[in-house]
Amino acid sequence: MSISTDHSQADPNAHNGEQNDMPNLGQRPGRKVFIETYGCQMNMADTELMGGILGTSGYTAAPNHDEADVILINTCAVRERAEERVFGRLSHLLKYKHARPEVILGVTGCMAERLRETLTDRAPYVDLVIGPDAYRRLPQLLEECQEVDADPVVDVKLDREETYRGLVPKREPGIKGWVTVQRGCDKFCTFCIVPFVRGRERGVAPDEILRQCQSLADAGYKEVTLLGQTVNSYRHPETETDFADLLEKVVEVDGLERIRFTSPYPTDFTPKLIATMARHDKICNYLHLPLQSGSDEMLESMKRLYTTGEFLTLVDDIRGAIPDIAMSTDIIVGFPGETEEHYQKTVELLERIRFDFAFLFKYSERDGTYAARKLPDTLDEKTKKARLSALIETQEAISAEIFATKVGQTVRVMVEGESRRSADDLCGKTDDFKTAVFPKPENTILNPGDFADIIVEETTSHTLLGRAL
Ligand code: SAH
Ligand code: F3S
Repeated sequence: MSISTDHSQADPNAHNGEQNDMPNLGQRPGRKVFIETYGCQMNMADTELMGGILGTSGYTAAPNHDEADVILINTCAVRERAEERVFGRLSHLLKYKHARPEVILGVTGCMAERLRETLTDRAPYVDLVIGPDAYRRLPQLLEECQEVDADPVVDVKLDREETYRGLVPKREPGIKGWVTVQRGCDKFCTFCIVPFVRGRERGVAPDEILRQCQSLADAGYKEVTLLGQTVNSYRHPETETDFADLLEKVVEVDGLERIRFTSPYPTDFTPKLIATMARHDKICNYLHLPLQSGSDEMLESMKRLYTTGEFLTLVDDIRGAIPDIAMSTDIIVGFPGETEEHYQKTVELLERIRFDFAFLFKYSERDGTYAARKLPDTLDEKTKKARLSALIETQEAISAEIFATKVGQTVRVMVEGESRRSADDLCGKTDDFKTAVFPKPENTILNPGDFADIIVEETTSHTLLGRAL
């Protein structure tokens, strides 16, 4: 997914007089920046962070690439395909450098961290390569890029302490926002590049998180998603706060109506967290719980820290405490050594658990991970593809059945705006993260952020279709 972020109203004092804690270097009033974002929600949150940092240095938003003095691509490194897309995009952006050689083209985020100097072997025209822990230095680094034809500026230093405390992300007006509560990951699943490119796990201080949540609420946001790679392992030792404690505090933020979080790690679930989720209506009845495989042998080889039995028990405990909770998951097919039998166990487990939806991926070898070093990627592409499409089919059928059970029910939807397909329809999300589409009611105007009760009349495997009551 690619989003572009508009920073046109970047104003360092816009959030209740809060100030970005930035040294007064690299001030560039009038300079314009355009940031494209790839990958996960944390990257989107990081783009807002960079927007805030640059806003404090006087940068404003470019409405498009043509008018930008600085173009940044915030990248993902989780699978090879994500990186190939960025290389494709970079070769396309070269035309802006041809037209105006002084334009600064930068690559930020996980792929910048992973490839470092070698990124510029394939894209020698890139001026700036910076990793996820170097954003505070962005204005100064951009100053270092001024010289046309100079070597690229590279800053990929990972930092065990950096949580971007005191900074104010630049957010567009909206109803749904993100707050990063944890950076990095300590789990080192054998397939995953994230711990290498985002560094060690750190929890953001609770007062900082609450300040961010309050500033979202003050700006009219109704929903917050708390972000972390293993968000429920969140700990802030200085204040002895765990994730359940944090949720208890976020629930108190005035103005926020819905609280979500992603992604929890199965073994970091505590009975206390389940009880907290069950206790508060504001905490949405939806959980993304990455499983990865239905085979214990594969889970062990992936260094996931649970067995399928333990995962099932956890799902039962959560469903026991919150009966109407919706769940989704992540699965990787074609991990090294995955036999047909292992794969069938994944199919069976998906059929048994019945997630509302699932994100299904083909294994992609990532240099430097344990799997890339020790577990040869033996499966042929054809087998991987066949397993992936069969699994998609299985999950689609399950999703369609689950969605169909909603027909006749009344669901509460937070309106997000007009439906993409028709200006006569509105769309929004239910508490349990299902997309609902319904005709604009005749006698009421519903704005983004408003809630509406919808009677579900029809469903697909991804959408509830109905009408407002
Ligand atoms: N803990 C993180 C995971 C980030 S990666 C979170 O969910 O927020 C997101 C998903 O990408 C993982 O759950 C996994 O299913 C998939 N993934 C990670 N590395 C992969 C790889 N090398 N090949 C294929 N899929 C991968
Ligand atoms: Fe990756 Fe596993 Fe962490 S999937 S982000 S190493 S929990």
